[in-house]
Amino acid sequence: MKLLLIGFGVVGQGLAEILRDKAARLKQEQGFSAQIIGVVTGSKGTLFLSDGLKIAGLLEAARSGSFVDYPEQAGLRRGLSASEMIAVGAADVLVEMSPTNLETAQPALSICHQALDAGLHLVLANKGPVALDYSNLRAKAQAKRVQMRYEATVMAGTPTMQLAEEALAGCAITSARGILNGTTNYMLTQMEGGLSYAEALAQAQALGYAETDPTGDVEGWDAAGKVIILANALYGASLTMADLDVSGITQISADDMAAAKAAGERYKLIAQATPGGGSVKALRLPLSDPLASVAGAANAITLETDLLGDVTLIGAGAGKLETGSAILSDLLAVQRNRGR
Ligand code: HSE
Repeated sequence: MKLLLIGFGVVGQGLAEILRDKAARLKQEQGFSAQIIGVVTGSKGTLFLSDGLKIAGLLEAARSGSFVDYPEQAGLRRGLSASEMIAVGAADVLVEMSPTNLETAQPALSICHQALDAGLHLVLANKGPVALDYSNLRAKAQAKRVQMRYEATVMAGTPTMQLAEEALAGCAITSARGILNGTTNYMLTQMEGGLSYAEALAQAQALGYAETDPTGDVEGWDAAGKVIILANALYGASLTMADLDVSGITQISADDMAAAKAAGERYKLIAQATPGGGSVKALRLPLSDPLASVAGAANAITLETDLLGDVTLIGAGAGKLETGSAILSDLLAVQRNRGR
């Protein structure tokens, strides 16, 4: 499977490490083998080699901050754009992992459409295109008989979309509620332990949980994007940000947290998606609420279903290998479902 990677930050490097470390096992157990043939970044440059780039060289060059340091190889092309790489016609899958833009979804959205037009499968960690243009992308993927998968966009590699769309395919899901942002959950946990807001945010950034611009995390927009993705995917809704009631954790002071603690409660940023709308709000939950004990960068979601009642999933919500694993899971699904 030949991959074009758009973006090579925390998630892209996580995917590359996983493909490197699990190559033998994936080949042996799943007959899966992937080559990274192109990488496009905003700040490090771009690299293309239709025979496959060397993962060790990519990771080393990324660490140095520029693909200028990637070693020369016969046939290597530097500086190609995503469109030019798609036009070569060698790739099977485009993996979109560039920074999320929840206002326009660009430039990723145009690249996603070009990839689908060219008959590539599309796997996304970038939330922008899925949150803002889900129905057009879905329709195009169906028309082109290719797959569009986006497990990484909600709760990293914790299999939220696969649970909802595949395992629970026979159920009607009537609401989804939970903790959908790893950065703020990590920050709230650390602040309860005595860290300042700024220290907690700096740690969440260093650990690779936060968005490139963490404003989206702390003001609730990242979780709101996930609410829209869930509403689109679970209910066929076509919600926009304007339909949601969104706030974040920026207004919570150390005194607020102490008051919650004294009352046997804990602040959590709770997201809710229903067929008609949704919200993201910091709420004080009693410690007896199962969501109150979801700590650190973990996320949780409870899906309310007609046949099973509530189904709750708890797991990693952000992180390098945690999100890379969602991409791998989608790539394996693309391979499994090919030709169906
Ligand atoms: N910034 C996001 C979060 C990354 O903290 O949840 C995962 O979508």
